[in-house]
Formats: sequence, structure tokens, C-alpha cells
Amino acid sequence: MESVTLNNGVEMPMLGLGTFKMKGYEVVHRALDAALTQGYRSFDTATVYQNEADIGRALKELLPAHGLTRGKIFITSKLAPGDQGAAAAEAGCRRSLAALDCGYLDLYLIHWPGRQGWKSEDSRNAECRRQSWEAMEGLYRDGKFRAIGVSNYTAGHLRGLLAHCRVMPAVLQVEYHPRLVQSELRAFCSEAGLHLQAYSSLGTGHLLEEPGVRALAERLDRTPAQVLLRWALQQGIGVIPKSTDPQRIAQNARIFDFHLSEEDMQTLSGLHSGTRYCWDPHTVV
Ligand code: A2P
Repeated sequence: MESVTLNNGVEMPMLGLGTFKMKGYEVVHRALDAALTQGYRSFDTATVYQNEADIGRALKELLPAHGLTRGKIFITSKLAPGDQGAAAAEAGCRRSLAALDCGYLDLYLIHWPGRQGWKSEDSRNAECRRQSWEAMEGLYRDGKFRAIGVSNYTAGHLRGLLAHCRVMPAVLQVEYHPRLVQSELRAFCSEAGLHLQAYSSLGTGHLLEEPGVRALAERLDRTPAQVLLRWALQQGIGVIPKSTDPQRIAQNARIFDFHLSEEDMQTLSGLHSGTRYCWDPHTVV
């Protein structure tokens, strides 16, 4: 499993298992079991996914069964938009820690630049996420989080964060796939020393049917999902495909044993249309 060294020295696997919409203990247990068998060592959850407790419980049971200890895996969770603000963020972080119940988290992200319940254009959003960041810095210093970062931030939000932070964000997690090639954001992260991690690499499934992706996959004797994940990896971007299906979980892990040519990379990047399948954070001030 390839990994990246974050800007604070922490090692993070380039592949993780996404768990958005993964619900119910049996489903979580089966998916994590399959993922650990296939070599996944990183798991991505969030308060809003409402599965932190199930993931924590499943890992407690599965790690010894797979001959692993807590230190061998990487767990990411995220602060709910409803928990933004000084006291609320501190409480939200501690709730995640308690739900996952694994001592510390490897990475904790602010999930969204705005606060739930406030309009995107509400000018209090900026101060609110600044307070959340300060709360997360406190937990980082206390050793509860090994790294901290943000998700769904634009370059503008990041500039604001970099101007006041005392702990540098280590990771930016955003939607990124061939129909949404966020080149400027990628360049910004590279210059500022943040690791870029993609969510929805498969375009929430839409890109699996894209003719250009399918043709390339057929030619390389790979699946569309593998080609899409490989495309991100070759740009130094981490991936966290979500699946609850053991065969797809296995398939999504076989992305380190082939290479896309420069031409194939450009063909995929040429699909860019600015399409977002998830949310657009640009309206959040
Ligand atoms: P499932 O859990 O039933 O496998 P994204 O990461 O872009 O949000 O896409 C995730 C979606 O793609 C999920 O609905 C997941 O469904 C599906 N998926 C994940 N891996 C594969 C794969 N290798 N082939 C086909 N569909 C996949």
C-alpha cells in the first residue's frame, strides 16, 4: 500500500475506504472485514455519516482477527457542519472520539466551510470556522488528533485559514474526478504543502458509464473504477472509494500494479466539464 508523508511527518495511505451512506453494523462489519483482507489500512468517516460508533466497534473486533493493532490503521473523521463554533466544535470532536472509541484519530477534518442552519452568504461563517479550527488545534496539541485538515474548502477559504492558523492544515479533501479537474486548487495545495485527497472519484458512480472511461478500461483490461482511481493516484491525489460490496472493495484496491500513459491521463483530464455531483462550496463566504 502506497502512502504519503503529510506536512507534519504523519504517514497516510493513498487509498482508504470511504463510508458515506454505509449504514448498519452488519454492513459496516462486512465492508471493513473485506477491506482489511484486501490491504486497506485507512478508513474515512464523518459525524454526519452516523456510522462512527459502528466503525469503531467493528474495528475493535476485526483488528485482532486480522493480526493488526490500532497503530497499523489510519482513521479519518470530520466535524459536522452543525458543530461549527468554539464550544460546539470542541464538543463535536470529543463526540467523534468517543463514538469511534479508539484512543485518538489519525486525521480530523472540518467537513464544510459553513455552519449548518446559516445561509451561505452569512458573514459569520468565516469567524465560526476559525473558532472550529482553533478547537481542533487544541485537540491536536493534546495528541487526540495526529493531523488536522479541511474538506470542501475553496482556495479562498484556504487562504483565510492559512492567514490565522497556528497548526498548518495537513489535508484538503474535495470532490475530484475527470469531470471536475480542480487544477488550480491542486496547484494551491502543492505550493502550500497540503495533501489533496479526492472524494467521489467515480463521480458517485456516473463516470463508470462514461464512454471514454469505458473504452480506456477495456483497452487496459481494467475496470472503469480502477482507471478513475489510478488517474487520481498518478497526480499524487489520495482516494477513498466507497463500496459495501466485497468484490468492488477488492477491485478498487488493485490500482497500484498498472500505469496510465501520459496520453491516457490527458484523455481522462480532457473530460473536464466542471460537473459537481456533490456540493459546491464556492457560495460559502
Ligand atoms: P456500492 O457500495 O454498492 O459498491 P463515489 O466514491 O464516487 O462516491 O462512488 C461510490 C459509488 O460507486 C457507490 O454507490 C458504490 O456502490 C459504487 N462503487 C464503488 N466501487 C465500485 C466499482 N468498483 N464498480 C462499480 N461501482 C462501484
